[in-house]
Amino acid sequence: MSDSLTIALSKGRILKETLPLLAQTGIEPLEDPGSSRKLVLPTNQPDVQLVIVRATDVPTYVEYGGADIGVSGKDVLMEYGGQDLYEPLDLNIARCRLMVAGRPGANLREGRLRIATKFVNIARRYYAERGRQVELIKLYGSMELAPLMGMADLIVDVVDTGNTLRANGLEPLEHIADISSRLIVNKASMKMKHRRIKRFITEMAQAVQR
Ligand code: ADP
Ligand code: PRP
Ligand code: MG
Repeated sequence: MSDSLTIALSKGRILKETLPLLAQTGIEPLEDPGSSRKLVLPTNQPDVQLVIVRATDVPTYVEYGGADIGVSGKDVLMEYGGQDLYEPLDLNIARCRLMVAGRPGANLREGRLRIATKFVNIARRYYAERGRQVELIKLYGSMELAPLMGMADLIVDVVDTGNTLRANGLEPLEHIADISSRLIVNKASMKMKHRRIKRFITEMAQAVQR
């Protein structure tokens, strides 16, 4: 069993877009992870199991060995900032952009900007590199609401179609990074289960190409 694989995924987009890739490598959960209340899901491969965690917890599970492998948005990885993970493959799924957004015509020239975001580390780094004083307001979702309610001048969030920004009277202002989801691997697992994990990465890379 030492070469068994535990793969950490999060419900929602990551699960939805990763399952077809896993299926192409021959891995299919035995029950529907979208509706199951189980957090550990066996698959049709006796040596592979899935664990379901919050998207922001995937890097933590993989870094601390709770899972050998995970799938995580680059935004989450940038925010997590851990150095102790391998990131061997861009899965090219859940693509979006990390952006600064705000109300059209807002005066942003002077003083300290208030930035509402769940990406406080990314935002801190971004504005520090630009020498701009900011006050960071940590939120866990619905960032688009903060400028509307007069709580913040700007938000830092992921944008895909731009519909959420538009629907809330905001516009994209600055592009921080292009985002897609990545395969991440625990460093000790990579050593101890090298052949099994190499094979998995190769098969996933082939699935991404198809
Ligand atoms: P959460 O519950 O943390 O919001 P999601 O499933 O919405 O989890 O997002 C998972 C990942 O998908 C994010 O880390 C990001 O990389 C990407 N993502 C988020 N929103 C979008 C979107 N609207 N379109 C495409 N990709 C997205
Ligand atoms: C994400 C993100 C934005 C929105 C951007 O939210 O936080 O609000 O998508 O996508 P768009 O540009 O296509 O509108 P999500 O749908 O993941 O909802 P959540 O608040 O549950 O994370
Ligand atoms: Mg989301």
